[in-house]
Amino acid sequence: MSPTLRLCVLPGDGIGPEVTEIACSVLERALAGAGLSLSIETGLIGGAALDAAGDPLPAAALAAARQADAVLLGAVGGPRWDQARPRPEAGLLALRAGLGVFANLRPVQVWSGLERSSVLRPERVAGADILFVRELTGGAYFGRPQGETGTAPDRRAVDTTAYGETEIRRVAEVAFQAAEARRRHLTSVDKANVLATSRLWRTVVDEVAAQHPTVTVAHLLVDSCALRLLQAPREFDVVLTENLFGDILTDEAAALVGSLGVLPSASLGTGGPALYEPVHGSAPDLVGRQQANPLGAIGSAALCLRHSVGRPDLAAAVEAAIAATIAAGQCTPDLGGSATTGAVAAAVLTALDRSAAA
Ligand code: IPM
Ligand code: MG
Repeated sequence: MSPTLRLCVLPGDGIGPEVTEIACSVLERALAGAGLSLSIETGLIGGAALDAAGDPLPAAALAAARQADAVLLGAVGGPRWDQARPRPEAGLLALRAGLGVFANLRPVQVWSGLERSSVLRPERVAGADILFVRELTGGAYFGRPQGETGTAPDRRAVDTTAYGETEIRRVAEVAFQAAEARRRHLTSVDKANVLATSRLWRTVVDEVAAQHPTVTVAHLLVDSCALRLLQAPREFDVVLTENLFGDILTDEAAALVGSLGVLPSASLGTGGPALYEPVHGSAPDLVGRQQANPLGAIGSAALCLRHSVGRPDLAAAVEAAIAATIAAGQCTPDLGGSATTGAVAAAVLTALDRSAAA
């Protein structure tokens, strides 16, 4: 990478602007310590873009995203736009599709201190460390035809789940490579007892598995997976699944750490810029109250250092600073703490500076 990371920031709605601003300051601090710099271009997405430009992803925002080294997104949506057509979320889907980021990595790590906020007993969840790899640009989210048909009293709506072999193979490849760098266990999640797309999914995953003999593979039906995640979260290493199942299971997995607010994500394609975003939503009720948890966005910045900057050492330093902040009990109310957004951000920056000085 050049000495400057050119980041396109799309703050979006609700708490998006608050948390992306903090993530940028952490990113800047981490890069500066390595003699690298950050340049930021901001763009509109979601409800903010609907209000300003009548389009949830204006062409200028997509162009800026495509030209950047990486894209950082805050959150989209909110009750204000519930009746809007298109919806703010359409901007996010168009961005994911427009960047071709088909592999969504969502690490869920029960860092020491988080077991206190988990819905599970600490001894059941402590040390759980799962990497979800969610297919992000296919399935029901992008199925055609979409929308309502017919007239009252027999209105209908149709969404189609379609998956092609190439789409399954490329995301499976990402997941197997991730498993090789972790504990070498991969759980592929589907609904092959009912869905044809899931049966193709299983077949293709087995073919990819044959190329990765050191990784053990288990196939699990999505309903069983939902149960097992709560019964035995430590059984999982890498979980590979399609778009809709991945959306649902990663929210469920947030209960393992107690809050969506801490979960980061990275969405990768081939070649172009990757997209980084916290898993949480726009949380309109928290806006401007210093209660938003910035750790999901900061963790996403760490993933950017790993995957777009190619500096796993800097990523690990930011992750260690997050872990230290949690261990010190500096947590926002979603994690049962009473720290403000700003206090958590300051604690992460202090921990980062301390590790740089050490
Ligand atoms: C997520 C979100 C999005 C999704 C929404 C906002 C469209 O829930 O990133 O998990 O469903 O993918
Ligand atoms: Mg979701």
